[in-house]
Order: sequence, then structure tokens, then C-alpha cells
Amino acid sequence: MGQFAFMIHPLDVESVTRQYSWAKILPERAIEAILGRLPPFKVSTITGIRSPYGEADGHFIVCPVTTRQFLRLPEETTVRRVVETGRLAERLGARVVGLGAFTAVVGDAGKTVAEQLDIAVTTGNSYTVATAIEGARNAVEYMGYNLSDVTLAVVGATGSIGRICVQMLADEVGDLVLVGRKEADLEALKEEITRSREISVGVSTDVARALPEADVIITVSSAADAIIEPEHLRPGAVVCDVARPRDVSERVASARDDVLVIEGGIVSVPGEPNWSLDIGTPRGTCMACMAETMILAMEERYENYTLGRDLTVDQVVEIERLAKHHGFSVTGFRAFDKQLSESDLRAIRKRGHENRRRMGLHVPSLDSAIAVEIDSGG
Ligand SMILES: NC(=O)c1ccc[n+]([C@@H]2O[C@H](COP(=O)([O-])OP(=O)(O)OC[C@H]3O[C@@H](n4cnc5c(N)ncnc54)[C@H](OP(=O)(O)O)[C@@H]3O)[C@@H](O)[C@H]2O)c1
Repeated sequence: MGQFAFMIHPLDVESVTRQYSWAKILPERAIEAILGRLPPFKVSTITGIRSPYGEADGHFIVCPVTTRQFLRLPEETTVRRVVETGRLAERLGARVVGLGAFTAVVGDAGKTVAEQLDIAVTTGNSYTVATAIEGARNAVEYMGYNLSDVTLAVVGATGSIGRICVQMLADEVGDLVLVGRKEADLEALKEEITRSREISVGVSTDVARALPEADVIITVSSAADAIIEPEHLRPGAVVCDVARPRDVSERVASARDDVLVIEGGIVSVPGEPNWSLDIGTPRGTCMACMAETMILAMEERYENYTLGRDLTVDQVVEIERLAKHHGFSVTGFRAFDKQLSESDLRAIRKRGHENRRRMGLHVPSLDSAIAVEIDSGG
């Protein structure tokens, strides 16, 4: 049986006070100071992950550093904390450790951490890419659009996950808009994409100006707070939010009933997985980055898999193949911690198409939308 550990961390101070209500009386800085002195700890044991071809057991382990601390503290401090947490994984008997959320973002995205540990390390980003693309494709299809007609914006386009999403979709979409913070990096990526393709590629460091141009958005930035607001979105837009913490503001849920926002990277896990912990996804499911670690353990493939910011298409295709082999699959559409029902989806699509028509934007024919509904069993 494969043995793994998956590293998590408190996304914010509120997630600590939700767990330990006595901490509510303390100011934010005091809670962060306490976290700074806590050693890494195991929070639960994971059992029941099983396919006809392999099994795995594991642990969730906590690196006690918030997202804000990851962004503010010196890199050597946060990388040291991640390595300490990796050593806990080793002591628990794990043969591969997955780096969750910002433990995978900090520094060189796992490379230094892997050099200092005796077990295999992965960020899980390869399977995250595969599932983000599959989820976005499914949502685009549901709305009745053809990928070849749409303008795709990727927010966080120069990052580990964003870059490979851009590379894998550049041959299929109509136009591309690359959004990030550093113009020079965006221009370099544009040059790489247009070198071998006839495609119009825009770059922008301004989310508010770039996104109203996009029909489909894959958002995967490492911003600590939401960066996509209701006024940034085109009617009928599809937004696949892969970032944790989320990039899409909660305000979008109440203010825009004409856009389809989906959480990227949530998958069903084969067997009867028991996390012994609320990981914020529906029963039997988990984040794709966690799933990548499980898949490597089920395969007993104890090698560093996804590290650094230059992912390859081959890595993504290979982990997707292994995931399908073991029965992992992308779940239906979820947004803001809630499963979208068929009637939610129909209402979004109807309103989205109406508002697009009103603004003189291309509206897909009803025929293609109905065909998808029949295909999806709706
Ligand atoms: N759903 C899942 O299963 C899953 C799995 C893994 C990771 N994630 C999440 O995915 C996100 C990205 O991970 P990553 O490993 O790709 O990170 P990364 O390599 O550090 O890339 C982050 C990207 O975001 C950009 N960015 C940061 N702040 C921004 C802002 N305010 N506006 C626009 N762009 C901004 C960065 O641009 P600059 O370089 O110009 O700053 C960079 O292009 C994180 O939130 C992570 O937690 C989710």
C-alpha cells in the first residue's frame, strides 16, 4: 500500500479562529506570532483510497503559516517551515509528500524543499492543470460556446499553473489575453506563444481592463485576496477559479447571475476515502493537487513529480492518464462552496445569453446548448 502525506496550511487567521474559538479574542498579529512558534503537526489520518490497481493511506499535516505570512515573511523562513513540515511527513512514514496551497507557491515551487528531504515531493500542479482545463472545457461546452470562437484570459498567466494552461490551450482558442503583474514576463510569454502560432495575444497588468474583453477566464493567481469583482466580467462569461485563496470575489455570487463561475481542480476519489477532517470539498472528493499525491502513492511511484514553475505537457498528460486509470474524475460544477444544480445552470445560461444579446455580443445557437444539455443528462 502506498504511503503519502499532504501538507496544508491555514489560509487566513479566520480559518484558525473557526477551529479554535478561544483565539477570537486575540488580535491577528498575536495569532500569527503563536503560529510562528508552533511546530508542524499532523491533523488527520487518511484511509480508504482504493482502485482495482492500487491503494494508499496518508496524513494531512499542517505547516503553521498563513497565506499572508507566506507573502510577507522572508523566503528562507517560510521555506524552512515547509522543510520542517516535510520532515514530519518522513517521520510519519510517508514516501511522497504533496505541497498544498502556498507551501507549493513559496520560493522555487518545491525544488529547494525536495533537495532537503529524503522522500519524494510534488506540488500537485500537473493534475491541477489537467482538471482546470477539463473543467473549463465542460463549462464552455455547457454555455454553448466553441473554444475556437472565444477570447480566453488567463490570470496568473506567467505562474506555474497559468503558463502551462496557456500553452495547452493556445492552439484551440480564438484570442488570448495574458494577465499578471510583471509586464516583461507577460511579453516574454506572448513572444513564446506567437513564435509558432497565428493567434492574437494581448497582455495586461490590469485585471479591471483586461477581463471585460474575455468570454472565458482561467484564474490562477497567487494573490492573497480576491481580485475579480462583478464589474470585471462580460455577460455570459465562464470563470474557472483555480486559485486558493480564491481569486473571484464572493460579491460575484450575489451580483452576477449571468456568469458561470466554477471552482477548478476538484475531483472524485476512488474507493471510500475518509479524510477524518473537513477539507472543504464534498464527501469523496478533494483538490486535484491532493489527488496527484495520492495517485503517485497508489502507483508507488516515489519520485519528485511536479516541481518548479516550468511544467511540461508530458507531465500533465501522464498524470491525467494515471488518474483516469485509477478512477479519479472531475466533479460537476461547484461555485462558492456550493454544487450548482441543473436549474441553477440553466438560469445562468439563459441570463448570460440574454445579456450578451443585449450587448450585441455573439450568442451561441440554442441548438448547440440544447445538444450539450442532452449529452450531460440534463
Ligand atoms: N485548486 C487546486 O487544486 C490548486 C492546486 C495548486 C495550486 N493552487 C493555487 O493556484 C494558485 C497559483 O499557484 P501557482 O503555483 O501557479 O503560483 P505561482 O507560480 O506563484 O504563480 C502565480 C501567478 O499569479 C500572478 N499574480 C500574483 N498576484 C497577482 C495579482 N494580484 N494580479 C494578477 N496576477 C497575480 C503572478 O504574477 P507575477 O509573477 O507577475 O507576480 C504569477 O503569474 C495559488 O492560489 C495556489 O494556491 C490550486
